[in-house]
Amino acid sequence: MTEKPWDGRFSEKTDARVEAFTSSIAYDRRLYPYDIAGSIAHCKMLAKVGVITDDEAVQLVEGLGIVKRELDRGEFVFHDSLEDIHMHIEARLLQVAGRVAQKLHTARSRNDQVALDVRMFLRDETRQTIDLLQQMRSALVDIAGGHLDVVMPGYTHTQRAQPVLFAHHMMAYYEMFTRDQDRFADCLKRMDVMPLGSAALAGTTYPIDRDYAAQLLDFPSVSPNSMDAVSDRDFAMEFLSAAGISMVHLSRFSEELVLWSTSEFGFITLSDAFSTGSSIMPQKKNPDIPEIVRGKTGRVFGALVSLLTLMKGLPMAYNRDMQEDKEPLFDAVDTLKACLSINVQMIPRITVNAETMRKAASVGFLNATDMADYLVGRGMPFRKAHACVGNAVAYALDVGKELDQLNLAELKQFSPLIKDDLFDHLTVEHMIDRRKSRGGTSRENVERAILEAGKVLSEKA
Ligand code: ARG
Repeated sequence: MTEKPWDGRFSEKTDARVEAFTSSIAYDRRLYPYDIAGSIAHCKMLAKVGVITDDEAVQLVEGLGIVKRELDRGEFVFHDSLEDIHMHIEARLLQVAGRVAQKLHTARSRNDQVALDVRMFLRDETRQTIDLLQQMRSALVDIAGGHLDVVMPGYTHTQRAQPVLFAHHMMAYYEMFTRDQDRFADCLKRMDVMPLGSAALAGTTYPIDRDYAAQLLDFPSVSPNSMDAVSDRDFAMEFLSAAGISMVHLSRFSEELVLWSTSEFGFITLSDAFSTGSSIMPQKKNPDIPEIVRGKTGRVFGALVSLLTLMKGLPMAYNRDMQEDKEPLFDAVDTLKACLSINVQMIPRITVNAETMRKAASVGFLNATDMADYLVGRGMPFRKAHACVGNAVAYALDVGKELDQLNLAELKQFSPLIKDDLFDHLTVEHMIDRRKSRGGTSRENVERAILEAGKVLSEKA
């Protein structure tokens, strides 16, 4: 065997600069456990159908085991001249197992091999991501359940709007991460299809048993079209779009943590162990974790755009361009997992400043809608009630008071329908508890949502 498995037709040695430029070993070495598992299944399948002998298969599997141990221990030596992880493993197998190694690549191409490796890698990573999302959801349910009495202002346009339960706010994120988890589970179904056996693009002349290889590698099905199988990267694009959406959710959550931990808001305090300081300003405690999570969002979007762009102009079937799928994909996988993990650790250590939140919910006319609803309850059409309360707000602003700080005589100027019971109607608790519409912030609803979430999480765990 020559040094490169493909150089039989070449009369000149590859230029070292070309080797450096085309090499992917610096990053695709990460695929080695999958590459070796795929090769072992391939050998066993070849023996089963009689393309190699049982004895040869045993030698190959043993040799691959030795190579794997070297890789596991970090003893394996890499060279640019061997391009990628597939060629490295095959070359080393030749050294440890001898000539039988030359049979390993029968009925296989690096095109179906790399498609297999990336699918197996991403399948594992997707499962880990799903597990982390599950933990993220638990963390949110726990912080919600632990603070059921906490009332805060709900915002629209970043302006105080209506009071909500802090737990309701947290459970909104729970819903987002639940959908994210579903998206990953759904994309896993299409990822979990085995491309091995498609060979370079057209299938192979050997009597291979793809179902048997799939069974060994724990794939529920095999790809139905060899050309599609070697050129499809939809599964990676789907993963990245789900990852992008998850990062949007993490980034929005982070943005709120950053805002809420400012002295302007003061709604939460991040634990010291999960904050950092300033090298010049001794008083500073900075929310670097949420800031970095927010900052990392762009690279995951970038990975999605890279893959979409990479694939959009490619004719069938395999093209070397596709080697460029790995770095963005690996980076996005690592980034999302790191962001989820750190949040799972950080969330239980957040101190919720209930008093500050309640105060903020009592200032800024957050009860104006409820005052209008009160008038509607006494027969006034909503539009009229809206205008009437608008006038009351203008008056209250003028005299520097909240609506519930005006006395009955002042309030009666705006409508004779207003009675003493309005004051009770305008307390934060009553406002929240009246919002019993399905999905609304009433305590009863939120408690039920938390209970249900707890059940769903314990079933899935
Ligand atoms: N390193 C290559 C990749 O990642 C492996 C497949 C190479 N195939 C080929 N025909 N050169 O795509």
